[in-house]
Amino acid sequence: MKRLTVIGTGYLGATHAACMAELGFEVLGIDVLPDRIERLAAGDLPFYEPGLPEVLRRNLENGRLRFTTSYEEIAEFGDVHFVCVGTPQKPGEYAADVSYVDASITALAPLLTRECLVVGKSTVPVGTATRVAELLTRLAPSPEVELAWNPEFLREGYAVQDTLRPDRLVIGVRSERAENVLREVYARQLADGVPLVVTDFATSELVKVSANAFLATKISFINAMAEVCEATGADVTKLSQALAHDDRIGGRFLGPGLGFGGGCLPKDIRAFMARAGELGVDQALSFLREVDAINIRRRIRMVDLARVLLGGSFRGRKVCVLGAAFKPNSDDVRDSPALDVAAEIRLQGGDVTVYDPQALDNARKAQPSLGFGNSALEAAAGADVVLLLTEWREFRDLDPEVLGAQVHMRNIVDGRNALHPEQWRAAGWTYRALGRP
Ligand code: UDX
Repeated sequence: MKRLTVIGTGYLGATHAACMAELGFEVLGIDVLPDRIERLAAGDLPFYEPGLPEVLRRNLENGRLRFTTSYEEIAEFGDVHFVCVGTPQKPGEYAADVSYVDASITALAPLLTRECLVVGKSTVPVGTATRVAELLTRLAPSPEVELAWNPEFLREGYAVQDTLRPDRLVIGVRSERAENVLREVYARQLADGVPLVVTDFATSELVKVSANAFLATKISFINAMAEVCEATGADVTKLSQALAHDDRIGGRFLGPGLGFGGGCLPKDIRAFMARAGELGVDQALSFLREVDAINIRRRIRMVDLARVLLGGSFRGRKVCVLGAAFKPNSDDVRDSPALDVAAEIRLQGGDVTVYDPQALDNARKAQPSLGFGNSALEAAAGADVVLLLTEWREFRDLDPEVLGAQVHMRNIVDGRNALHPEQWRAAGWTYRALGRP
């Protein structure tokens, strides 16, 4: 069996390493952060992901999964090296920062003295793979070192199942040998019937960013309809349901609300626009600017709805915010619409208390000036308005009477269209939502 290494042990890398070990491979993970490696090696996952801690610990115990900070060690060990480092948005720019990809290749390549395949999984601007392949050829002593590109589509909260049983596998290759190595690595998924698309470097890079662009567009489309609904008294949740019955449209990612956030969608559509500009096809993606703008307008609308409920000002008012993660089943607050709204209300003078089932620590680090509660009921104590901004199950299941006993005024704004308006109104709440009358 091929021996695998995984370079970069963030969300993608830690998941990939643990899941490939789960499939029976010997896997060695590497990171430049010694703290992270120490924690992972001790079975301590540095982020919340359902099911992953068990996979991690099981494979540490059976010895198939190990971690190191030594490039010499992974070069010696690996037949296939997966590059899973981050490609964050450059500060003050739309473009992606690919310096971690370059740094990992520059560290690894000079140590590659035997046949192996380097596989890029990071989300990169189209054209990166071709450049990285040249870099590898120039720096690697062995002529039998090759590159392949294999984008990853995993969703936070479903990372294990998305890795073990993805919707599709996409590989960009330049030789049959590279294709065969990846077929061997993914034999289990292929045997399970996962579709495989074999293509060139550029197409494989583009599949990833265009998939994210499409998903973001779908969300902003329904949120644009929500704006129109707000102007006409129509109900966007019914509209969305009705659209979803058309198989050509489909109901997934058609959930109207506060819009998308997280470490991928916002940065990826911006990086895609930046790359299109460099390629001289910026017009082709100019609609993504609108997608981004619609998304940001939902946050402004949310703040406005809450302020209007309070008679025009947040000053001296207590605001309870339910949710800090960018979506449920995650502790990730990167570009979180919920936290963004909470921070804006704080800026406008509101006394904000946030509660989230998993993301409180990260939220505290990101927005230390906000108040935090240890439960929904605690955060709601004395509130003049409650905002539901991340649709965790426990918020959907809240009892309007129980929450009502905590607050000062029964005002609620449902930023995710997650509640039943009749139920809340029957309990004496003033209920407002995005895109609903
Ligand atoms: C996304 C892609 O789905 C994944 O394939 C890619 O690899 C990384 O980016 P993720 O960031 O984990 O995954 O989140 P996802 O579940 O896609 O949700 C993105 C955002 O869209 C969330 O903020 C979510 O709240 C929002 N969303 C989703 C909506 O507002 N409405 C919907 O109907 C669906």
